[in-house]
Amino acid sequence: MRPEDRAAVLRIEAASFPDAWTPEQLERCLASPRVAGHVLERAGACVGFFIVEHTSQRLHLVSLAVAPAERRTGVATRALRSLEAIARTHARARIELEVHETNLAAQLLYRKNGYRAVEVVRGYYGDEDAYRMIKAVRPLVLRPPGKPGVPAHGHPDGRPRRAR
Ligand SMILES: CC(C)(COP(=O)(O)OP(=O)(O)OC[C@H]1O[C@@H](n2cnc3c(N)ncnc32)[C@H](O)[C@@H]1OP(=O)(O)O)[C@@H](O)C(=O)NCCC(=O)NCCS
Repeated sequence: MRPEDRAAVLRIEAASFPDAWTPEQLERCLASPRVAGHVLERAGACVGFFIVEHTSQRLHLVSLAVAPAERRTGVATRALRSLEAIARTHARARIELEVHETNLAAQLLYRKNGYRAVEVVRGYYGDEDAYRMIKAVRPLVLRPPGKPGVPAHGHPDGRPRRAR
């Protein structure tokens, strides 16, 4: 997410969430070295975004939103595919997210994409609860030719030793 994407992202944010982030809140979130923002474009215009936090074991989907006029055209599905590709590249075995208990559209999206609800998180949104949903990802390890047993990204036991 480049600085020039911020205006479009904030417009989508405002159209998507009743408690939309202010520009300052967005900047604060993106300033964390563990957080990355990704934009989805159609014909050169930003039509959606997602924000992901990297921890040592998992990816946490912090936010995902699609411009109202672009919904039900597969933008969020594309975002979730990209998220899985990021998890594989960084050898993270799990993607985790929280979704508002009343946000049926998002719950259906996540379920259709293989996420399952594992926990009710009481008061996650202040006065409302969230469902925590997870998806296991099988990291893809590339072994370099001629060096059997030594994965390209990590230790011979296949587990990465540090975040990339
Ligand atoms: C939820 C949201 C991200 C979905 O984005 P999208 O690009 O429209 O989703 P997709 O087109 O990839 O939809 C994929 C599937 O999810 C489900 N789905 C998505 N939106 C739905 C809706 N409003 N009602 C019912 N099912 C829905 C459907 O199964 C859909 O497949 P289909 O269109 O073939 O029936 C979008 O509605 C949005 O930005 N909402 C406001 C912000 C938000 O709630 N973000 C999630 C926070 S956890």
